[in-house]
Amino acid sequence: MPQDAERQPGPPGRLDAPVIGEATRDVSSFERLRSATRSAHASIETVPALHRLLEPELDAADYLMTLRKLHAFHAAFEPGLASRLLGISRAAVLLDGRNLRALQADLAWFGASPLRCSPSPMTLPCAVAGLGALYVMEGSNLGGRIIARHVSRSLGVSPFAGGAFYGGLTAEQAGLRWQKLKEVLRLEIDQAQLAWEPAAAAALQTFGALEQWMRADVD
Ligand code: HEM
Repeated sequence: MPQDAERQPGPPGRLDAPVIGEATRDVSSFERLRSATRSAHASIETVPALHRLLEPELDAADYLMTLRKLHAFHAAFEPGLASRLLGISRAAVLLDGRNLRALQADLAWFGASPLRCSPSPMTLPCAVAGLGALYVMEGSNLGGRIIARHVSRSLGVSPFAGGAFYGGLTAEQAGLRWQKLKEVLRLEIDQAQLAWEPAAAAALQTFGALEQWMRADVD
């Protein structure tokens, strides 16, 4: 925690997070998250299971294994995230289970079963931490649109035929969700004068957990 942040209990119903100090208010929590996770993003892009999605010689078996691993991650992670953010009504529209549903649809299209193992669920100590994790989950839809173009070209999948996870959101839908995410961060962290550190820590933890899981050998 920075020197200028202090812990205060806050009124009932407020987020359980430290209150931000004067000196850190000028930079938005969104910008803080962006810079705090820049290298984590660069690192996750190098994960073979993800990087391969951009290669023209991608084969369907590799794509499907990546989807099954992503499905296991989202199935383990999304319920905890949703319940952590239950009290934040502004975030509800982003907690619609879109990613998990899309992954289920893709596995069903391929006739593939979910993996039998899954990563351990993550602990999100406070709602601000939940917002940091939500930033990562929503952000993955931005890169997803690029991946969708590649897998459509290499494998011929489309939003209703095995490509819902990466291609299921139109550019407009993805843009609206991202705007909403930014608005939630602004209102629930910046305007509420809460510290961004728990969000950044959780965002890094989310990137780390996903990277570790995507690099693991599972079957
Ligand atoms: C090969 C895999 C990936 C590629 C090629 C990729 C690519 C990109 C690109 C191009 C953007 C910027 C989009 C824009 O500004 O419109 C972006 C943003 C982002 N991606 Fe990824 N991404 C990948 C994987 C992931 C994963 C696995 C996650 C997290 C689960 C993730 C989280 C994010 C986040 C949080 C942002 C927003 C960064 C910001 O605040 O500007 N990405 N990604």
